[in-house]
Amino acid sequence: MKFLGIELDEDKIPRHVGIIMDGNGRWAQKRGLPRIFGHKAGAKTVKLITETSVKLGIKCLSLFAFSTENWQRPKDEIKNLFKLLRNYIKKEENNLLKNNIKVLISGDISKLDEVTRNMLKKLEEKLKNNTGLILNLCINYSGRSEIINAVNKILNSGIKKIDEEKFEKFLYTKDLPELDFLIRTSGELRISNFMLWQLAYTELYFTKTLWPDFTPEEFVLAIKDFQNRERRFGRIPE
Ligand code: FPP
Repeated sequence: MKFLGIELDEDKIPRHVGIIMDGNGRWAQKRGLPRIFGHKAGAKTVKLITETSVKLGIKCLSLFAFSTENWQRPKDEIKNLFKLLRNYIKKEENNLLKNNIKVLISGDISKLDEVTRNMLKKLEEKLKNNTGLILNLCINYSGRSEIINAVNKILNSGIKKIDEEKFEKFLYTKDLPELDFLIRTSGELRISNFMLWQLAYTELYFTKTLWPDFTPEEFVLAIKDFQNRERRFGRIPE
């Protein structure tokens, strides 16, 4: 199939794509604007990349929206980020419903203010019968805490022996396909505590583009790059 003028193999679309959306602050700084303007521009990219994922037939898109480490940012920036998230929900919920998108929240949202928390829960509820793209919003998320939470749940359940398959049932991603592809924008070559368990065999893609400048075209080119890789999962080439 051809998409935005780029030839893609329909049978090799990644099932699950993760994105570390980085570079909003620098995007704003370059323009002499406060950082929140970068986040606002970043929220527009979220909308575009989500819509492109639907058109490409990607099953799940995991977005790293707020990490447990982000609490160390100035209070004002944190407040504005959650306000932006609430505005995004208000503006987008009907589009998400219409586009058959289901939302999953990964992370400890008990630490969020009540209004935001309730909006997220209502959004999940409103979209729960949708069957298309799963938009996995990772909010107050960290890969290490996800693993530790899983271990604590296992200890509490009284299970005495565990294997990989059983362990995965205690992760936020329990009902999601394998994370095939991870994109990080803004030129940083780090994982920053994102999906540590899930990344075992994921193909990685790093681009210098700042998140607000990341276009559907670049997204499709990244997927084309993914399609040209040989995934061996530890085996030798056939
Ligand atoms: C990283 O840029 C980005 C974030 C910490 C927040 C991501 C949030 C959004 C893209 C907008 C809202 C999200 C949704 C789901 C509507 P940075 O601030 O670390 O940039 P910098 O490294 O250039 O400072």
